[in-house]
Amino acid sequence: MCGIIGIVGDYNNTNDIINGLKSLEYRGYDSCGIVGLVQNKFIEAKSISKINNLEKIIKKNKINTKISIAHTRWATHGKPSLVNTHPFIKNNCAVVHNGIIENFEYLTKKFNIRKNLIKSDTDSEIIALIFDKLLKQNIDPIKIIKQIVKLIKGTYAFAFLVKETKKIYAVKKGSPLVLGISDNFKAISSDILGLPDTTNEVIFLEDEDIVEINHTNFKIINFKNNTSKRNKHIFTPKKNFLIKGKFKHFMQKEIFYQPTSIKDTFFNYLEKKTKKIFLPKSDINFTQIKNIDFIACGTAFHACMIAKYWFEMFSNVNVNVHIASEFRHKKNINKSETIGIFVSQSGETMDTLQCLKFLKKNNIKTISVVNVFNSSIARLSDLIIPTLAGPEIGVASTKAFTSQLMALCMLLLNFQKLDNSINSKNYSDLLNTGNSIKKILHKDSEIKNIAKHLVNKKSIFYIGRGLMYPIALEGALKLKEITYKHCEGYAAGELKHGPLALIEDNIPVIALAPYDNNFLKILSNIQEIKARGGEIITLTDKLGYKKIKKFSHSTLILPDTKSYSAPIIYSIPVQLIAYHLAVFLGTDVDQPRNLAKAVTVE
Ligand code: M6R
Repeated sequence: MCGIIGIVGDYNNTNDIINGLKSLEYRGYDSCGIVGLVQNKFIEAKSISKINNLEKIIKKNKINTKISIAHTRWATHGKPSLVNTHPFIKNNCAVVHNGIIENFEYLTKKFNIRKNLIKSDTDSEIIALIFDKLLKQNIDPIKIIKQIVKLIKGTYAFAFLVKETKKIYAVKKGSPLVLGISDNFKAISSDILGLPDTTNEVIFLEDEDIVEINHTNFKIINFKNNTSKRNKHIFTPKKNFLIKGKFKHFMQKEIFYQPTSIKDTFFNYLEKKTKKIFLPKSDINFTQIKNIDFIACGTAFHACMIAKYWFEMFSNVNVNVHIASEFRHKKNINKSETIGIFVSQSGETMDTLQCLKFLKKNNIKTISVVNVFNSSIARLSDLIIPTLAGPEIGVASTKAFTSQLMALCMLLLNFQKLDNSINSKNYSDLLNTGNSIKKILHKDSEIKNIAKHLVNKKSIFYIGRGLMYPIALEGALKLKEITYKHCEGYAAGELKHGPLALIEDNIPVIALAPYDNNFLKILSNIQEIKARGGEIITLTDKLGYKKIKKFSHSTLILPDTKSYSAPIIYSIPVQLIAYHLAVFLGTDVDQPRNLAKAVTVE
């Protein structure tokens, strides 16, 4: 898959274009190029190496434009070469394209395009030639777009720069595209990572949306010529992640950011109208994968554990989950029909990185789910799936974790499916996750009371079953990490095999108990704990509450969940309990002792 960016503003925005391209580099980096309009002339620069090289060319040639489109290419039709590099410029228009035009030969004939005009091996250049031909017939650019795209078979996102109107036009079907809005510029990009930091609002464009932008206005219309109304979402600039704002700690801010990060990650991969999932393209043949090795550390490892449960529930793939520091010393690894999936917020964790290199050496394809998309792990893997959590500053991972879960969920839902659409049940479950998180955040003071109660406890337990077991581990890790209190996470059914001996009067046990298939079993475990004097704090939903309240010292009622949303939703109170307890205890919440945000030692 390729990356597209286009900006039209009242200032020289070439730097924003370059930064945008760098952010989109995870989508492909076989070659890259830019074209801008300066004094009504197209000025272009192209490179068949990384964006850094394009940046040097731009600086050397002093290219500065207020309106330009640019592209970073993942080659499909035609090898990486300058002649195959986008943008394609034909007289009065320039085009960049993401996707595959299956019937480009048909279009060549249909529009009578002379073969000698075609210089590249791509499926994209033909669109520039057709566009130019129709412009010469004085047809309006939007009409031209409609005329062309109605005939296209395949997926696409296009951006067109038209000399005469000095506007950028874009259209999409099956490939992602967002519109960034600010007072002094409008931008389009393959994802929100590519938009300038000064963007105020963002619109996730839908299939068959045609957008026209100049620096003051934008217009979205559909193929029938009707104006399309689209919701605007607030854009959070990268620099805003670096200040605490109204929050006391970064961790608190990052916990409260989760309704947004979850939604951003969801819509980065899901097309609203068709409910289809689009992951970045790669040469991994998913239909042949029989085994997955998930590899990560700490919180990211817990995300992998949840992914294992999901894959085992909903696919036939054999999944193993490994702690990176242990996997590194493995002698025998499964090589055939296997992929390695690496999950990491920082993308720099040394143990995880070394495992990635180890699998690569063994010719095993690798996927990375990372929050820092230009990190070492991202750069070395065959496919990057970014989590759109924004920079995470607090050492305790919170929003990155839930975004990892959302991204892994999208990967699973798309796995081995020929038709990449998701059913309405899963769609609404995931769509509602952001709102459910908001509801929990409204219960912050209730959660704070739970934390207050834990201040003088010497030891705390988390228990869960199934999907809640990794959340119990995560809850315990979070609590240990920032409160320095002893806390254990256990699979509820495992208590009786040893740790039950630790339960005595008033030892708090936090039970993660959604009303799911495991509910009756955890209810029995809760009674076993209660019988030994343990103090049960329950996180459950309305149905669970009815059955569990008589055994509980206190209960927090959470929104109803399904298999995909449950681990994401139950992560939130678990994070807030750790956060408030740490604040009560006066520890350094954002920089707990002995730890670091990116662990780059073995
Ligand atoms: O950057 P990574 O996701 O690879 O980091 C892995 C762990 O070091 C990290 O998740 C750590 O466990 C967190 N500080 C936990 O909150």
